[in-house]
Amino acid sequence: MSGEAPQRVLLVGFMASGKSSVGRELATLLGWEFLDFDAVVESRAATSVAEIFRDHGEREFRRLESQVAGELLARSRVVLASGGGWPAQADSWERVPPDTLSVWLRVSPGVAVQRASSEGPLRPLLDAEDPLERASELLREREAAYRKAEFELDSEADDPATLAHEIMQLVRLETERHTTDR
Ligand code: S3P
Repeated sequence: MSGEAPQRVLLVGFMASGKSSVGRELATLLGWEFLDFDAVVESRAATSVAEIFRDHGEREFRRLESQVAGELLARSRVVLASGGGWPAQADSWERVPPDTLSVWLRVSPGVAVQRASSEGPLRPLLDAEDPLERASELLREREAAYRKAEFELDSEADDPATLAHEIMQLVRLETERHTTDR
């Protein structure tokens, strides 16, 4: 964050950390728009993330994701949910505007796999022989990237509505801090 009041919230975190459900609740509380990187990629490509991975590979997905991220990060009064792998891609954080409040929603590999399997077919990157081992490995590789977010919250400690309220408080505090600093 810079010397300006937050104009957008960026939620990052591993798959199934609750970015979309928390993001939706938070956007309602703030009266801002909610936008999910994956959903925008899917609507642009007119196909699902799983199909993009299957038919064109991860590299093509990352290209589309990066394009969408650039556009969405330029918008104001929005709550953005990034895809789980986006923060770990080269230059991702450098592209986040300074008036962005970023939050890492933490989740353990076990809970991520449990939540992801209950949501339907496993995400392409967890569709491995041992999804728990894969999730632990990915999380280890990505932790430093998630940690670059300004704030972090434990997504297992509270439900999405409570987490959304906590983030709204952060937005309020940051907005007040920057308004009184002037
Ligand atoms: C990915 C996470 C997914 C989606 C894609 C790749 C990842 O998003 O972008 O399957 O690399 O962790 P969610 O975090 O919303 O599941």
